[in-house]
Amino acid sequence: MKRLQIAAGNWKMNKTYDEAIDLATVLSTGERGTDTLMILGVPSPYLKSVSDIVAKHDGLEVAAQNCSNHNSGAYTGETSVRMIKSVGAKYVILGHSERREYFNESDALIAEKLDKVYDAGLTPIFCCGEPLEIRKAGTHVEHVKSQLKNSLSHLTAAQLDTLIIAYEPIWAIGTGETASPQQAQDMHKALREYLLEMFNPDIAAKIPILYGGSVKPANAVELFSCPDVDGGLVGGASLDGEGFLQISKSF
Ligand code: PGA
Repeated sequence: MKRLQIAAGNWKMNKTYDEAIDLATVLSTGERGTDTLMILGVPSPYLKSVSDIVAKHDGLEVAAQNCSNHNSGAYTGETSVRMIKSVGAKYVILGHSERREYFNESDALIAEKLDKVYDAGLTPIFCCGEPLEIRKAGTHVEHVKSQLKNSLSHLTAAQLDTLIIAYEPIWAIGTGETASPQQAQDMHKALREYLLEMFNPDIAAKIPILYGGSVKPANAVELFSCPDVDGGLVGGASLDGEGFLQISKSF
């Protein structure tokens, strides 16, 4: 089965408004990879403006970087899925390791957020990945499988139909140290086999699994050529327009 090819950018807490508009303009008017979905994970204050820019372009979408597990009400500082949807974003990044680590997000909380995202008709990009000590101990596959089990088991077939997974080894995020294509492929293959075990062959074959962790123009071709790597979730290198356009052409 041919899966979606995705170049997703995670801008994290970077860029001023003007810089964000400039970057979105470069990405929307530049030459992107054909048959590649580009998703821009932008800071909340820019969701509306960047969504308006990308709305005029095929194959370009916007993601929020997080959402609340509540619908509305007295949750100062939070952003609900209805808010995200109302400004035109279609995707939500969930469970990023920085959210798990700095904001104490548990697998159970991420499962609740997944439900909110689906209830709103949005699409989640579910992040998973192991820290260095787990990789060194050799239990990384079990660790990541348990993240999937704890947050995804309850999803319905219709929900799984649109799910995107991003495998991001924490030791490779922002460190310049990328997982080797073999390390990425081995984990992605193990996760796809686990999806088959948890659900069924159709779902396992359909879900795009992105690799994240120091993806850059110089290593994207090699990573994306792995059979179970369907693209990237790109942090630092997605902040440079020309570089990210190049990454989107690396399939
Ligand atoms: P990086 O970040 O590409 O800067 O390593 C990836 C991510 O955290 O999504």
